[in-house]
Amino acid sequence: MTEREQNFPALLERLRPECDQIIARYERKRSALLMLMHVFQQHEGFVSREAMRAAAEMLGLTQAEVEGTVSFYTLLFPRPVGRYVLQVCRGLSCSINGAEDVMAYFREQLGVGNLGTTPDGLFSYEEVECLAACDRATCMQVNLEFVYDLTPQKIDEMLAAMRGGTYPVAAMAQTETPDSTWRLRPDDQVSTGRKARGATGVPSPNNAGGVGDKAGIIMLDRIVNKQIAFHEATRERAVVDSTAIVDRVDEGKENGRAGH
Ligand code: FES
Repeated sequence: MTEREQNFPALLERLRPECDQIIARYERKRSALLMLMHVFQQHEGFVSREAMRAAAEMLGLTQAEVEGTVSFYTLLFPRPVGRYVLQVCRGLSCSINGAEDVMAYFREQLGVGNLGTTPDGLFSYEEVECLAACDRATCMQVNLEFVYDLTPQKIDEMLAAMRGGTYPVAAMAQTETPDSTWRLRPDDQVSTGRKARGATGVPSPNNAGGVGDKAGIIMLDRIVNKQIAFHEATRERAVVDSTAIVDRVDEGKENGRAGH
């Protein structure tokens, strides 16, 4: 039994009043699941089996229902991860704006691949689907906090600050040493029947599609060949960048229409 497992009953007793308060806010107990998982993740650095079992008991859910929810969301980590979880968006808008280069740069700087953790346990790296911040592509989350408009310089500074302990986003708790990867193991997930294999023709449960996925490539090809240009700035970017507002207004006047 690990030290974390030994300490779990005491942690549960300590967190129970907070969990009860959260549960009381919802009409249906099960609605509190994500909030409870966040509470445990905050203290353990990931969502442990013990935490899932405790939540299932508190909410009257089955273990499978809790596990299904935890494995669905990229904001919950079902295995021990690094002190900084770097989740880079590989969605369409980010891909158009250079996500492939950003991801390649991260992999190079960290020396690990997608779903890898550095040997010192400081960084876990993941390439994720659209983070719903498409107008600020390319973007990522650091311990679930957004970082926008990524450049190599910004990434260098970010990693240096994390290594030096000066990054403004707090490091995650780490109660267990992470493995070098938190990929699903096909033998303990698929062959034992605990996880469906997924779509036909997808041999690995780790193959999440995205960049490299045929549909994405076809879509990108179509965009490139049709030469669709993205001329419009969003309102949010225009407000942040006052120069852009002036430029857009001037441009609008020249074209005989209001700038956006
Ligand atoms: S595609 Fe990256 S945030 Fe939407």
